[in-house]
Amino acid sequence: MSIKDKVVVITGASSGIGEATAKKLTSAGAKVVLGARRIEKLEKIVADIKNAGGEAVALATDVTKRDDNDALVKLALERFGRLDVTFLNAGLMPNSPLSALHVDEWNKMIDVNLRGVLYGIASVLPTFTEQKHGQVIATSSVAGLKAYTNGAVYGATKWAVRDLMEVLRMESAEEKTHIRTSVIYPAAIQSELVDHITDSGMATGIRALYDEYEISPERIADVVAFAIDAPEDTTINEFTVGPSRQSW
Ligand SMILES: NC(=O)c1ccc[n+]([C@@H]2O[C@H](COP(=O)([O-])OP(=O)(O)OC[C@H]3O[C@@H](n4cnc5c(N)ncnc54)[C@H](OP(=O)(O)O)[C@@H]3O)[C@@H](O)[C@H]2O)c1
Repeated sequence: MSIKDKVVVITGASSGIGEATAKKLTSAGAKVVLGARRIEKLEKIVADIKNAGGEAVALATDVTKRDDNDALVKLALERFGRLDVTFLNAGLMPNSPLSALHVDEWNKMIDVNLRGVLYGIASVLPTFTEQKHGQVIATSSVAGLKAYTNGAVYGATKWAVRDLMEVLRMESAEEKTHIRTSVIYPAAIQSELVDHITDSGMATGIRALYDEYEISPERIADVVAFAIDAPEDTTINEFTVGPSRQSW
């Protein structure tokens, strides 16, 4: 089964990579279930998708709450009768040097970027295990592959996603539950990500860097579509994707 008619949950769907992916997948015939906290943005995206002839529903979702993740999966099963893929994409990157001690922001990143992914996996595992079919795609970062100053906690959460997705792949293969996994490591992608940096020393510099290098979130959407479209017996486990001009 290719993308057409697959049912896909997407977290972090209200902007950036999640929004672009929702639009890309529905244009290829998938049905999407969109989660994020800003329901008004999700409703506008659902309207755009429906106007273009696609199928989408949305639910206000805070990925740091386990019940909210479960409710997204329940909505997919109730509305569309099946679930094939979850794209665990919600994340935030309020970078700062460790010495600035933005400990509340450290905790938020752990809650959204790591705990949110874990809850997302927990929400689909019962369904995927029972049906012996399913795909988990997660957005890590190039900061999940190499260290960046000012990004210690962000990077730590994204390195952790790499590890747990690899173990999910290995355990599913051993348990013969046929769950496919893909981790995406984006570099500078146009989105709202850097708008939430509060550290005054960081915000302007990163914004300028992104303005110079960033590429469209549709590039990541294309990769998600490619991973979903791969034959069911094939896992394409890792994609590193960024501007061809970016060296860092
Ligand atoms: N842009 C880049 O250069 C880049 C590079 C590497 C990795 N990434 C990763 O790509 C992913 C998507 O980010 P983006 O670049 O598209 O940035 P974005 O435009 O800021 O999107 C982030 C998404 O996460 C959602 N989100 C944040 N906290 C949430 C929560 N508690 N519960 C549910 N949803 C939450 C936001 O929605 P609400 O605010 O409506 O909840 C939004 O939809 C993130 O995991 C990010 O770390 C991005």
